[in-house]
Amino acid sequence: MKTHEITKILVSEEEIKKTVQRLGAEINAHYGQLDRELIVVGLLRGSFIFMADLVRQIKIPLVVDFMTLASYGDGTVSSGDVKVVMDLDSSIEDRDVLLVEDIVDTGRTFSKVIRMMRNRNPRSLKICAFLNKPAARIVDIDIDFCGVDIPNEFAVGYGLDYAQGYRQLPYVGVLDPDSAQ
Ligand code: IMP
Ligand code: MG
Repeated sequence: MKTHEITKILVSEEEIKKTVQRLGAEINAHYGQLDRELIVVGLLRGSFIFMADLVRQIKIPLVVDFMTLASYGDGTVSSGDVKVVMDLDSSIEDRDVLLVEDIVDTGRTFSKVIRMMRNRNPRSLKICAFLNKPAARIVDIDIDFCGVDIPNEFAVGYGLDYAQGYRQLPYVGVLDPDSAQ
């Protein structure tokens, strides 16, 4: 992985830090006191770094759980197909659930996950996304806690991948199309 493959930084380390702090504060203010732990559900694999930072900003008691979906394959264009590869460990029935996603792009994946989660009858369901690409939206999604709006370009880093690579970059950048063959 060479840094010259990144043509532009979309979200710097400093902005990531501030964004996660702001989201944590919004989440703390929204929930106040709960009588049972909040269930924070991360969608793998893209959300793992954001989720790790975010939960450390949440002051109310919580548990974490994860779900793996298959959507993109290794390309950069959304297929619209979503399959559950690994389901949650815990039941979310009658619980307060916060869904954490790396990015909402077309909204196809998230809309399917939200529908699936609602069918399990949680007490409440809120959505937190680190990145948002409004110009790419096909399915309308209500993001309750939204990080940073980015242009309609393919982003990597801070958990987001291209062909499973680049996830460890500490910032979010745009990949040079010539290195994304
Ligand atoms: P959707 O188009 O909103 O359904 O996005 C589905 C998934 O594609 C997201 O959860 C991401 O994992 C991935 N994705 C969408 N846009 C990008 C991007 O710019 N970079 C890396 N992954 C992306
Ligand atoms: Mg994802």
